[in-house]
Amino acid sequence: MRHVLVTGAAGGIGLAVAEAFAARGDAVSGVDARAPELEVAMARLGGRALVADLADPGRAEVVDRASALAGPVDVLVNAAGLYPATPLADMTAAEVASPVNPVTDEYASAVAVNPLGRPGQPDEIAAAVVWLAGDDARFVTGAVLRVDGGATAGTTALPVHHPTTTVLQEGSL
Ligand SMILES: NC(=O)c1ccc[n+]([C@@H]2O[C@H](COP(=O)([O-])OP(=O)(O)OC[C@H]3O[C@@H](n4cnc5c(N)ncnc54)[C@H](O)[C@@H]3O)[C@@H](O)[C@H]2O)c1
Repeated sequence: MRHVLVTGAAGGIGLAVAEAFAARGDAVSGVDARAPELEVAMARLGGRALVADLADPGRAEVVDRASALAGPVDVLVNAAGLYPATPLADMTAAEVASPVNPVTDEYASAVAVNPLGRPGQPDEIAAAVVWLAGDDARFVTGAVLRVDGGATAGTTALPVHHPTTTVLQEGSL
């Protein structure tokens, strides 16, 4: 059993990732700023709820808190974030203060031109994360895995402000 620390675990991709690891029998610790949603989710999964605002300078202490509760962290999945991604300098105070997922015209346009013609679902991202953090991916390191329905197929570089979910395994922590 591994100890998996998932940020953004109160909803969306982070919650789907936490569910996927818990279903495999791994010990899950979830981090999120939304306390009620996180606590309900972690209670359901038998995981630990670590309420924290990861924008705070002292955010790294959640790793120590998680380790104290369930042992050293083996896998870190960083799924907390805001979508759509906006350069910090261009964000309004309301956007900074509110971790929400607005459905924008830009988002609808992006989905319309996706080769698969639909947005990805959180469990589809979670499946890739579980694979990437598992033994089958032991020779994959320093790679960017694009789970985007082919939206960036054929391009050699990601858009400058492309939001990502990151996965780190023991050894790189
Ligand atoms: N590349 C893409 O096309 C794409 C698409 C969707 C999402 N994403 C990215 O994946 C990540 C997760 O997306 P999602 O759809 O699950 O979003 P979501 O809003 O459903 O979930 C994000 C979670 O992160 C938490 N969070 C945000 N800021 C936080 C903070 N400062 N401290 C603690 N918790 C915080 C929120 O409370 C929320 O529960 C985001 O970074 C997003 O930008 C990328």
